[in-house]
Amino acid sequence: MARGPIITLVSQKGGAGKSTITMQLAAGLARRGRKIEVVDLDAQASATRWAEAASEANPFPARMHRFTGEPIELPAKLTKWSNRADAVLVDCPPALDHPRTLAALNHTDLAIIPVVPSPTDLWSTRAIERIIVDLQKHRPQLKAVLLPNRVSRTALAADVIEVMHDFELPVLAAAIAQRNAYAQSAAIGGSVFDLGSAAKPAQLEILRLVSAVAKRLGELEL
Ligand SMILES: Nc1ncnc2c1ncn2[C@@H]1O[C@H](COP(=O)(O)OP(=O)(O)OP(=O)(O)O)[C@@H](O)[C@H]1O
Ligand SMILES: [Mg+2]
Repeated sequence: MARGPIITLVSQKGGAGKSTITMQLAAGLARRGRKIEVVDLDAQASATRWAEAASEANPFPARMHRFTGEPIELPAKLTKWSNRADAVLVDCPPALDHPRTLAALNHTDLAIIPVVPSPTDLWSTRAIERIIVDLQKHRPQLKAVLLPNRVSRTALAADVIEVMHDFELPVLAAAIAQRNAYAQSAAIGGSVFDLGSAAKPAQLEILRLVSAVAKRLGELEL
């Protein structure tokens, strides 16, 4: 079996949606029959706690790993997990210069940068873009995309997303709206797929995200 791609959620700014997207994407991929391993690199342990909120009868549909060890030990673990999964999703702490974030990025196939469409988030995205583009000079196989998250139907959000298209990194055509269902999922230790038909718009959004991510990975095949 070929190894599964390593997909890393990064942002400089806290609260952009790294943990939320990690968990919803993991659940969406599992829904599509993929075997997923989630790696939590954040000392806040949001992803770990999220999965722990699940009931025994309905566990979170991915295998969870908390990694707070030395960055030098991370590559071997990522390789091991990616060899036995269809994809590995890595949730990072909110700092791009964190040693664990950098160690993960050095082994990442696709970096997803969630961006809340607000002017301040845009400024921090400029900084993260510079760092990623720099990394790509040394590792051209590193793919990276911006993912609009918490998108509301306001003129400001639309304007900000338009500006995002001027960035060097491509904007993934699978924007995630601001929806209660995303926050609710954390409380039940699951995903929007556990919330029934009321969460249909969120479910469709996540399945669209799954397809967009698979397309970006191209020949790496999810
Ligand atoms: N699309 C969304 N709709 C509604 N709420 C959202 C959405 N995305 C994230 N949130 C909420 O925003 C908050 C921050 O999200 P999350 O914890 O995923 O961000 P993070 O980038 O992992 O933060 P940190 O940098 O602290 O790790 C959470 O309360 C989450 O429920
Ligand atoms: Mg987080």
